[in-house]
Amino acid sequence: MSLQFAYWAPNVSGGLVISNIPQKTEWSFEANSRYAQIAEQVGFDYVLLQTRFFASYGAENQLEAATLASALAATTKKINIITAVLPGLWHPGVFAKIISTIDHISSGRVSVNVVSGWFKGEFNGYGEPWLDHDERYRRSEEFINVLRELWKNETTTFKGDFYRLNDAPLKPKPLQPPKIFQGGNSNAAREMAGRVSDVYFMNGNSIENLKKQIEDVKANANGRNIQFGVNGFVIVRETEEEAKQVLKEIVLQADKEAVEGFESQVKFAGKASPQGEGMWANSSFENLVQYNDGFRTGLIGTAEQVANQIIELKKIGVDIILTGFLHYEEEIKTFGETIIPLVRQKEQELKEKAGAL
Ligand SMILES: Cc1cc2nc3c(=O)[nH]c(=O)nc-3n(C[C@H](O)[C@H](O)[C@H](O)COP(=O)(O)O)c2cc1C
Repeated sequence: MSLQFAYWAPNVSGGLVISNIPQKTEWSFEANSRYAQIAEQVGFDYVLLQTRFFASYGAENQLEAATLASALAATTKKINIITAVLPGLWHPGVFAKIISTIDHISSGRVSVNVVSGWFKGEFNGYGEPWLDHDERYRRSEEFINVLRELWKNETTTFKGDFYRLNDAPLKPKPLQPPKIFQGGNSNAAREMAGRVSDVYFMNGNSIENLKKQIEDVKANANGRNIQFGVNGFVIVRETEEEAKQVLKEIVLQADKEAVEGFESQVKFAGKASPQGEGMWANSSFENLVQYNDGFRTGLIGTAEQVANQIIELKKIGVDIILTGFLHYEEEIKTFGETIIPLVRQKEQELKEKAGAL
């Protein structure tokens, strides 16, 4: 199957890097609507909206994901809109209904990213219990099961440890069951992905580490078909030196206090899993300037280099490249017009080579 392309909607302020470097990226609805329209025109398949309620990594303002997804559903025509949700803050019945509504508005173009949480401050702030690491995943799995039951059954009765439903109806049903995406690096995340998720999202990482993650999740999947997405921050310039210089500038101008604040939160969350291997557990200061480790994926260089790296990701089993940019205003368009066609050409060459063997 051909690779698919996604991008992070900048639905929080401050762009995708925790840096004072000038960024031509806005977080307003109007800007997000414009970016999504450009993205779908130039060949992106998905836009991912993050869920954030309190500022962290500098993101002072945050547009709520499902609400913005609903608005984007009305202003776009083709792109699939992935909206993130934190199970502890939403009842799955309410959320199933929201998603079904967006599915109707968008004619079947909505998906869900179930995030199990790392930001204790949001839960404390809203007065909701903060569960142990692996309990959060147990709750997420129930959440996903309830969504699917409601989307399928005439009425749903569910007696779980976290959620209870009694003869609950849900109409209208979505046009087709929305895909369930999920992030996380811990064992609990990998196990849950194997059991219930359609797509496993990974933070940026080296090819080697990503390969290991993919193998683990596949081993947990018992033959279920799972797709894999990886985050990568894209810097394409005329020369490799120029691209690397931009990275250097981003890091030099990092908002040190915000990066360190974020670091203490995520390191705490990453170590909270029983094996201490959660996402960000091994991220350096430089990695964290892009808050989903996007520099580590190596999509930084000339168009040719970036396209080659994307092909290397495909070879280890990545299906979806999740991108972020410094200047959304122009870089989404450039990526779609230069990198995607280059990748398509290289995919074709791969196919021909495989056919010739
Ligand atoms: C692509 C991607 C997107 C994510 N989006 C969000 C988000 O919008 N909000 C959030 O609180 N966490 C988000 N996360 C965090 C994860 O869902 C999860 O809580 C975190 O990775 C900790 O998992 P771990 O301890 O199992 O490694 C995202 C993770 C990935 C890989």
